[in-house]
Amino acid sequence: MKEQIESIIQESQKFAITTKEQMEDFRLKFLVKKGLVNQLFQEFKNLDGEEKKKWGKDLNIVKNKVEAIFKNAESKLIGSEDTSDGKSELPGYYSEMGSRHPISAVVEEMTQIFERLGFSVETGPEIEDDWHNFSALNFPANHPARDMQDTFFVGEDIALRTHTSSVQVRLMEEGNLPIRSIMPGRVYRNEAISARSNCFFHQVEGLYIDKEVSFSDLKQTLYNFVQEFFGANTKVRFRASYFPFTEPSAEMDIYLGTESESDYRLTKGTGWLEILGCGMVDPNVLENCKIDTKEYSGFAFGLGVDRIAMLKYGVKDLRTFFNSDKRFLDQFVNL
Ligand code: PHE
Repeated sequence: MKEQIESIIQESQKFAITTKEQMEDFRLKFLVKKGLVNQLFQEFKNLDGEEKKKWGKDLNIVKNKVEAIFKNAESKLIGSEDTSDGKSELPGYYSEMGSRHPISAVVEEMTQIFERLGFSVETGPEIEDDWHNFSALNFPANHPARDMQDTFFVGEDIALRTHTSSVQVRLMEEGNLPIRSIMPGRVYRNEAISARSNCFFHQVEGLYIDKEVSFSDLKQTLYNFVQEFFGANTKVRFRASYFPFTEPSAEMDIYLGTESESDYRLTKGTGWLEILGCGMVDPNVLENCKIDTKEYSGFAFGLGVDRIAMLKYGVKDLRTFFNSDKRFLDQFVNL
């Protein structure tokens, strides 16, 4: 399978398409019913379950790549074709269809899952004050916990939000209880830029405040999410952790294994990938937002979207999501 996949990618990339005839040859070779891509899918059908799991994603990548090459050539050749018959008439412009960005597609998929569980979607500002990003969330002034989130300040006590938990504070302050919401959005941290981290990224955080909310409600909600998003048999584990705004706090990992090279790398050889932080909302936070802690309790969680998108689409370098390279984005035309 691996060799076939690689050889199709190589052949399709090497294929020179400068005329309409070559474009047709390309189509006949790769994209028709008896073409190489479909042949690959036929063979895929005969693989057993484990193998299918292993190759499914790659197969779709091959298909998208080959289709993108064809579309690209088509738009160039047909777009530049001279259709005038010698009379003074301008050829029409071919405008390419845009497509959804993979990060947006993942956010949308997550949102749909949480909507089915009864969560509404809320948003808030990306430029935040100290109160909403830190103080209300139980980060004491000058406390080292603020170092967990390297902040870009834009003024005194004004910063680019480091997490979407700030939206949770805004919601709690509004005081319309119970709250059952998720807050998707972009957040900023002053981190060294690398294949695995960037100065901005995306989160989907969630907040549930009601009477008698317990840690088991939190676990069940997250189990449900993981089963819907990653598949019913996904193994997960909770690890105790620390966040100033939740007590107790935990992080959740999903098990990918170490068989494929990319899983090995993504999980640093452990097989486990951390996907979210969570916990019971600290009573101090509820009190800061004027919520009666005798009556109400709640849980919160925060998922990192970008890493999950890397995993889902087999993207090795986080930065490629954001440098607007059309060759990269063309692979997602079917989203
Ligand atoms: N706000 C945390 C972060 O950005 C994630 C989180 C959200 C953790 C809610 C616990 C509860 O790292």
